[in-house]
Amino acid sequence: MTKTVDDHAARFDEKADEYDDGGSPEYLECRDLVIEHADPGPDDVVLDLGTGTGAIALALADRADRVVGRDVSEGMLAEAERKAAEAGIENAAFGIGRFREPDYDGPVDIVTTNFALHHLADEEKREAIERIVELGPRRFVLGDVMFFGEPDPDEPFYSPEVDDPATVGMLADALTDAGFSLTAVERVADQVGVLVAERRV
Ligand SMILES: C[S@@+](CC[C@H](N)C(=O)[O-])C[C@H]1O[C@@H](n2cnc3c(N)ncnc32)[C@H](O)[C@@H]1O
Repeated sequence: MTKTVDDHAARFDEKADEYDDGGSPEYLECRDLVIEHADPGPDDVVLDLGTGTGAIALALADRADRVVGRDVSEGMLAEAERKAAEAGIENAAFGIGRFREPDYDGPVDIVTTNFALHHLADEEKREAIERIVELGPRRFVLGDVMFFGEPDPDEPFYSPEVDDPATVGMLADALTDAGFSLTAVERVADQVGVLVAERRV
């Protein structure tokens, strides 16, 4: 891990109130693909990890029974709660939790995460994916910075000083080793993509 969980929490606390201003085309496309592939039904509970200001969780709330957001940054979670209240969304619950300890033990049908898992080292990503399987969702939608080819310092989202993106191959292996089948791979850019995984029965 390039930075500790506390480092990331502090970094996002600082930028929470301006986080929603802007967003690169790659981020926006990735976000929209995660929302599209999550595709919850009215009885589904969605757990969004690294939820930030709730970009994914709040967009899915009106199609799901309930959405639960977890993050390590109090500042980002406060923004998510403010946005939920402003939009009159009553079936969203946000709280502190990390990938490997989400602090949630209720039912989960779909787990989502967008632009967050790359903060973990590869071995920690594996542990996080194993923890997600234990929660029992039928689907896991992972949008993130990920390398489709060789890491390229000239491409957007190459920030080894703060981030730890994995290769698509490493993520695919971790998902299938943990008990998921990979059902879709969306390449947004050379270093951004969405992987959709369904639990093998
Ligand atoms: C770039 S933001 C993405 C937020 C949101 N998912 C989105 O699509 O806008 C990354 C988020 O991951 C959170 N984060 C970093 N490390 C984490 C961890 N170990 N567990 C949970 N969240 C984490 C940060 O606090 C931050 O809110």
